Amino acid sequence: MRKRIIAGNWKMNTTVTQAVELAQAVCDQYTRHQVDVVLCAPFTNLYAVYSVIKDTPIALGAQNLYWEEKGAFTGEVSAEMLKSVGCQFVIVGHSERRQYFGETDETVNRKVVKALAHHLTPIVCVGELLQERESGLTEQVVERQVRGAFVGVTKADAAKIVVAYEPVWAIGTGRVASPEQAQEVHQFIRSILISLYDKELAESIRIQYGGSMKADNAAELLRQPDIDGGLIGGASLQAVSFLGIINA
Ligand code: PGA
Repeated sequence: MRKRIIAGNWKMNTTVTQAVELAQAVCDQYTRHQVDVVLCAPFTNLYAVYSVIKDTPIALGAQNLYWEEKGAFTGEVSAEMLKSVGCQFVIVGHSERRQYFGETDETVNRKVVKALAHHLTPIVCVGELLQERESGLTEQVVERQVRGAFVGVTKADAAKIVVAYEPVWAIGTGRVASPEQAQEVHQFIRSILISLYDKELAESIRIQYGGSMKADNAAELLRQPDIDGGLIGGASLQAVSFLGIINA
């Protein structure tokens, strides 16, 4: 039985003060400990958020990392740095990074490998653009992204990865995928994992849905057999709406 995992992706939002307030509010209202909860804050707020959540079951995540160990890479942040501020998770290959910052399947893979080497759990994002869905390319795109992310990853390491299926047309648009549309792709992702590894491994990997998930549509999505959680953008910026999804 896969444990559900709900992660908040705060994106480029929150000052330190706002981040601390939000983390505190989530902690105060969080009682459903049978669900894993992760807060993915901006780099500048990671340590402050860690100070709030460190004695709670809530985990800290970053939104990106760089694949080199250290050195002359101005503006980048390493896996070791993320560990040093208390991160256990890191989002890799979010569609906004693929779209605006030139991330490719290859750079996503390098980041996944480096995160795993430092015992950070990668939340690997995959998902098709609207025109790709409309052209019937969803499976092709998602398969390429999933296979790309797992290149060179051993079975033991693969078991630690969380996959997030985020149809790009559903992110921040209020246009959520139907539970059937999402389930179809989640099942497809699991079938790719079977072909890459085996059924047992594929059955153990958690696959989150992301894209306009809200308190009022979460229950229906999370009821699907292959949807194991959510990666939440907009609705994670208010404790009430984020907790609403956790409680769903
Ligand atoms: P959204 O974002 O919930 O605001 O659609 C999800 C995401 O980008 O992870």
